[in-house]
Amino acid sequence: MIKPETIQKILDTARIEEVVGDFVTLKKRGVNYIGLCPFHNEKTPSFTVSPSKGIFKCFGCGKAGNVVKFVMEHEHYSYPEALKYIAGKYGIEVEETQLTTEEKQQMDERDGMFAVNTFISGYFQDQLFNSEEGKAIGLTYFKERGFLESTIKKFQLGYAPDEWEAYSKHALANGYKKDVLVKTGLSIDKGDRLMDRFRGRVMFPIHNLTGKVIGFGGRILSSEKSKAKYVNSPESDIYNKSKSLYGIFFARNAILKQNNCYLVEGYTDVISLHQAGIENVVASSGTSLTVDQIKLIKRFTPNITILYDGDTAGIKASFRGIDLILFQGMNVKIVLFPEGEDPDSYARNHTSTELEDFVKKEAVDFITFKTNLLLDETLGDPTARVSLIKEIVQTIAHIPDAINRTVYIQECSTLMDIPEQTLMNELNKLLRERYRKKLYRQPAEEVVPGEDIKQQLSKQMKIDPLDISEHERQVIRLLLLYGREKVKIRNIIEDELGNEVEEEHEEPVAQFILRNLDDDGIRFEKDIYNRFIDEIKNFMEGGAIPDEHFFVNHPDEKLASEAITIMATPYELSDNWKKNKIYVKQEDDDLLKTVITTLNPLRTKLISRHLKEITEKMKTTSNEAEIFVLQQQYYELKKVANEIDNELNRPFDY
Ligand code: CTP
Ligand code: MN
Repeated sequence: MIKPETIQKILDTARIEEVVGDFVTLKKRGVNYIGLCPFHNEKTPSFTVSPSKGIFKCFGCGKAGNVVKFVMEHEHYSYPEALKYIAGKYGIEVEETQLTTEEKQQMDERDGMFAVNTFISGYFQDQLFNSEEGKAIGLTYFKERGFLESTIKKFQLGYAPDEWEAYSKHALANGYKKDVLVKTGLSIDKGDRLMDRFRGRVMFPIHNLTGKVIGFGGRILSSEKSKAKYVNSPESDIYNKSKSLYGIFFARNAILKQNNCYLVEGYTDVISLHQAGIENVVASSGTSLTVDQIKLIKRFTPNITILYDGDTAGIKASFRGIDLILFQGMNVKIVLFPEGEDPDSYARNHTSTELEDFVKKEAVDFITFKTNLLLDETLGDPTARVSLIKEIVQTIAHIPDAINRTVYIQECSTLMDIPEQTLMNELNKLLRERYRKKLYRQPAEEVVPGEDIKQQLSKQMKIDPLDISEHERQVIRLLLLYGREKVKIRNIIEDELGNEVEEEHEEPVAQFILRNLDDDGIRFEKDIYNRFIDEIKNFMEGGAIPDEHFFVNHPDEKLASEAITIMATPYELSDNWKKNKIYVKQEDDDLLKTVITTLNPLRTKLISRHLKEITEKMKTTSNEAEIFVLQQQYYELKKVANEIDNELNRPFDY
């Protein structure tokens, strides 16, 4: 753990425009800087850095955050890694708190496992290039497969000698501990000795995102049917198969650059494609694709292209992978290789240009893919045709975005020659079923039965006249942006002699807002907004008011990201909200006016709600005394509402 004081020092010292400037060419535009967003492809800059707020925000792709978040996102660092990077840039010494013995042991253990994997990987490489057996068997094999020496070195391929305890002994002799060797799965504990798991195989080290060796795959060289073609490292503390992708370390930059990731089946496919110049490629290594693997790719691109062997019997079984990708809101394309070919063999038998052309030309979306694959089976068989259509619609139902779904329904309609409405009905039926099963956590996004998209959209645009969420948000926004600025307040007060006199004093915006909210007993509906208020109050007990950076750099991720979103949104209201009486122009010109015109509509809406409640109650009670009390309340409230309304509508004379 990095000490909190150190974190604070790093945050205080770092200037976001400088840190970002190391990765993005920034131009000054007013008080901000702008540049081309490093997180998505764009030709005109919409990536903005605000030195005063200490945040970045891209208005194209929506990415936003503080300086640490930028480094985390850009470099794919963890939080402490990003902090250390920034500390390094500014020459700040990073002090870490003492780890508990348990934490230390855990870290030592993982480090130990990485260390032994690196050591053994080096040994395998050395064997491949320098031992007689390695050269004669391993290196010859790779060369026959067409792997260049540079490729072999890049992927750190190696050779494990055909002996029982070659590298286990070697590692022990070099001071590596028995239990670490066993934990990585490199060695198998035979009681009195350690046995090598990999024997007489060419070795493919598997790297994590940062290039550390987490495991190995070892391929047999003979075609003996009795032995498995591959032996792989077992799962361990550092190797989680369902979360790893072979090749991700070598592919990450290319995936970002190409904004697409090719997904293949095997180690050799990844390596051959690399050698042919296609570097944005990873392999799921024979297992079926998992959600975690998809999410790993999603960190770099929303686009996946699956490359299938021409003779994979499991294509139909792998349809599930397509559904999973779509369910993540990502785009998927599929390339089917000719009968008997896989990406590796195709790369070997064709030039790089031919390979690239083939992949570009053959890539089809999932509907075309499924249709092409299954349509033959359904010829002249109406029942089969119906199940194919249902199957495709089922896949479409996995897409979270309603508009995307509609586009695919249209395509399916054309391809299968079925009326769009029929498909839409089927889709809605599925969505309803799924909705009932509560598979979706956000039913709001779902198509409601019987409604078409247009109706849905217009429904979303309409705002409940008593909805106060936007008003709450605007109050928080003012607190975050202008909390420390002073406003002049003029009051009429009574002096000691009972005369009315005008008093004037200055007060920070935060204090003014909080006092007003307290006076009216207003708590926000949205919990997170109340947490902002509580945090500000706490802070103010120390006699100061938090500045913009306080929330932007807040240790609570949720608060920080909400603060960033709120602050980064330019002050623009949809017509709907304008009609709802939020009107602020040039907000920092006249802050007091801005604050009041923000607070008052919130008040009037809250009062309107109250009035509505009272009216409802009056309808249901026949107790006269109660009705009388309710009427009194009603009049009182109405009076306040009118006062506020008048205040809202008259020109300000503060
Ligand atoms: N695989 C495995 N164990 C096996 C067979 C396959 O772990 N017994 C995994 C490996 O990750 C392999 C991938 O599934 O890379 C794809 O299998 P396959 O196409 O058979 O292997 P390739 O690596 O392509 O090997 P080659 O081209 O030499 O046949
Ligand atoms: Mn293969």
